[in-house]
Amino acid sequence: MSSPHPILITSALPYINGVKHLGNLAGSMLPADVYARAMRLLGHDVLYICATDEHGTPAELAAAEAGMEVADYCDAMHDAQAEAGAAFDLSYDWFGRSSGAATARITQEFSAALERAGLIEARTSRQVYSNADGRYLPDRYVEGTCPNCGFESARGDQCDSCGKLLDPVDLIDPYSAVSGSKDVEIRETEHLYLKQSEMSGRLREWVEAQTDWPALASSIALKWLDEGLRDRSITRDLDWGIPVVDAHGNPRPGFEGKVYYVWFDAPIAYIGATQDWAAHQKEKGTGGDWEHWWKVGDGDTTKYVQFMGKDNVAFHTLSFPTTIMGVNSETDGAPWRLVDTLKAFNWVTWYGGKFSTSSRRGVFMDQAIDLAPSDAWRWHLMANAPESSDAAFTWEEFQASVNSDLANVLGNFVNRITKYAGSKFDGRVPDGGVSGGHETWIIDEISRRLPVMIDHFNTREFRKALGEMRAIWAAGNEYLTRAAPWTHYKTDVDQAAVGVRMGLNLAALYGIISQPVIPRAAASILDALGIPENRRSWDFDGWANALPVGHTISAPDVLFSKIEDAQVAEWTERFGGEAAQAS
Ligand code: MF3
Ligand code: ZN
Repeated sequence: MSSPHPILITSALPYINGVKHLGNLAGSMLPADVYARAMRLLGHDVLYICATDEHGTPAELAAAEAGMEVADYCDAMHDAQAEAGAAFDLSYDWFGRSSGAATARITQEFSAALERAGLIEARTSRQVYSNADGRYLPDRYVEGTCPNCGFESARGDQCDSCGKLLDPVDLIDPYSAVSGSKDVEIRETEHLYLKQSEMSGRLREWVEAQTDWPALASSIALKWLDEGLRDRSITRDLDWGIPVVDAHGNPRPGFEGKVYYVWFDAPIAYIGATQDWAAHQKEKGTGGDWEHWWKVGDGDTTKYVQFMGKDNVAFHTLSFPTTIMGVNSETDGAPWRLVDTLKAFNWVTWYGGKFSTSSRRGVFMDQAIDLAPSDAWRWHLMANAPESSDAAFTWEEFQASVNSDLANVLGNFVNRITKYAGSKFDGRVPDGGVSGGHETWIIDEISRRLPVMIDHFNTREFRKALGEMRAIWAAGNEYLTRAAPWTHYKTDVDQAAVGVRMGLNLAALYGIISQPVIPRAAASILDALGIPENRRSWDFDGWANALPVGHTISAPDVLFSKIEDAQVAEWTERFGGEAAQAS
């Protein structure tokens, strides 16, 4: 067997403009975390990188609304998002910032290299200028009527109603999002364009050669290619962002007051954040080599996996690869790494409707963690991941996941067997007895399901992986019902001992398999069973006899508290639900 390959994992960088809602969490950061944890347990060298996406109009507008300087706003919101991520046990190796020096440097290097390769060109473009505000209004700074669907407050970069990507100059009756003024005009100004159209042939070849991409990702990429890739402007008339350079990397004359477009530098921040991680590791004296993660060396076996919502797919399968391929065509050193596979998600909806920050519909990460422990959210959101279609969040289903899967199936099993071993066998793994048909049944059942579950984690099919995990837990309850050690105890202690021994080994196995999804409960189970840290990896040989006879165990504290109907009623009242959706 080949040794496990290294895996570089990134999840789409969350915009800085506020703590994210559960839909954002479920569609990128959480699945990336679960995957990272599972792959570490399987022995892969994993680097999981994320960061806040701090440039562009979302950052500037949110800062203005908060009445803060953009830089101060970003400092504060980065900390808030880092804290929210930690509360959900997101195991990033590094949670960086796209506004750091490393990202600025690489962005400028890449821009210069692309220009030398003939892939960047300055062109005159038409932009909306606001006389009242004395400034250009790129992207979200301008709103107006969507030329596609007639929605009256479409944003300059995209219509929230029909989803179409827009150019601000196409809006009908445009007005400034800053002042509301309609005193706007179209002015001509210079911007840099990335010649994506020249890359379409190579991009198509590359996309078509991918065998490992899910249909959602390749179909979106191919749709864009079929419609004809357009050259894309990669600079904006804004102050906040990365200054624009020429082909030599020097400040570009005539581009004062312009910066790179947020979608040009944000994916480059995956690399910048990795450099920041490496610098931090060096400081700690623990190595830290960013290059082997981002440059493809000889005999390289590293796989790069990206996680994102479906609206991000085109940027990751076409725009960013154009940048990477373009830069690679110019340098003769080791090439920069392209993504190997990506996992894209549909939307988590709020009772079938949209999560909305402005109308406060839905639940945000900082609020969610006050309502229920992170494990409860992690389990529910991943067991219902929006993989093949959108998935509606409802309080009722959240309650059902927690009460039945976690409390009744897993919690009840671990609780029953550890308490019983404590009261009847002195809290030790009992000796004696001979295994029989029930043991053969459960061993077969688990041996059949474990590899299937692992396979689903390897292929990032989270609903299926968690479905197998739940079935493995449920099989434990079925085993205890069949083996019924409590009925045998009075007449045949040895027979009871067989059941308790197997039950405790199952509990240990459940702790081990549950770690990527519900890390806190898994740790309580494994601590209570006295499983040392170095025996918690996903190496399942001999699991049925892993606990030595005589080994001392205890019962964990309550693993999962049930969610009461009264809580569901209170949360529905507070956050909305069906009623809020209808209004
Ligand atoms: N901030 C973007 C969003 O939330 C995602 C950026 S992903 C990156 O949609 F690759 F560009 F960083
Ligand atoms: Zn529209």
